[in-house]
Amino acid sequence: MIFLGVKRLRLIVSGTSGGIGQAFCQLATAHADWEVIGLVRRPATSDQAFDAVWSEASIHAALEPIGRVDTLIALHGADIVSGPGRSQPYIDRLDWLYQVDIAGTIKLVRATLPQLNPGGTIILIGSDEAYQGSSGESGELYAVAKSAVMSYGRSLALTVKDRARVVIIAPGWVLTRWGQSLSAERRQRLAQRTVRGRWQSPLEVARAIESVLVHPGSAPSGAVIAVTGE
Ligand SMILES: NC(=O)c1ccc[n+]([C@@H]2O[C@H](COP(=O)([O-])OP(=O)(O)OC[C@H]3O[C@@H](n4cnc5c(N)ncnc54)[C@H](OP(=O)(O)O)[C@@H]3O)[C@@H](O)[C@H]2O)c1
Repeated sequence: MIFLGVKRLRLIVSGTSGGIGQAFCQLATAHADWEVIGLVRRPATSDQAFDAVWSEASIHAALEPIGRVDTLIALHGADIVSGPGRSQPYIDRLDWLYQVDIAGTIKLVRATLPQLNPGGTIILIGSDEAYQGSSGESGELYAVAKSAVMSYGRSLALTVKDRARVVIIAPGWVLTRWGQSLSAERRQRLAQRTVRGRWQSPLEVARAIESVLVHPGSAPSGAVIAVTGE
């Protein structure tokens, strides 16, 4: 979009109240030509209300007033590992992840596509842990959800190949809400299971997303970018 003679990049970003979302918004402030519209469950002034469990039609109605955009970054994700969610039955947690991470992401993409400018970018979030395999109930459940999002993203890239670029970011463990709630000992144990023996910071993931936008050639459509500190 051209605004006062300057090309502006309009981005809608879900999950901006989360750790990675906040880090991305922080980085985005350095780009004077970027306009970030956050999609959150509890909106403040400049944000747009959005809940991934809404119907596709409701999400579309919420996005329509925003108008044309150049980028969608879908960062929202269910937290099944802390708080009350952790004690829910296995299948209920699976259903929750399905509703929020899988169906929620697909509905958000489908609702955004009519407003996405030609040549726009869609960035989805997967997980390197999911791809590599991760033990335990939560590991299994996240593997199902994030692998589905990643496979969806790669197929979507083929579907929209003449209209948009689709890139999937796949981080290892990132020190956000859940990680911060763990004991230092548990955090250390989990770090030892990762590729580089350490947690990723939300800023590292945000930088990878920023790089996809600033250096489009570095991430062709369908690419999965692992963020594991390598
Ligand atoms: N942290 C990790 O180790 C890691 C690793 C790989 C991938 N990821 C993925 O990266 C993404 C961001 O993770 P994070 O670590 O920043 O998580 P986080 O701090 O827990 O943030 C999650 C975000 O998702 C939002 N959300 C949850 N349920 C929602 C719903 N029904 N509708 C709309 N928004 C909803 C939350 O909003 P509220 O503030 O309203 O709860 C929050 O903004 C997630 O998709 C996560 O699965 C994380």
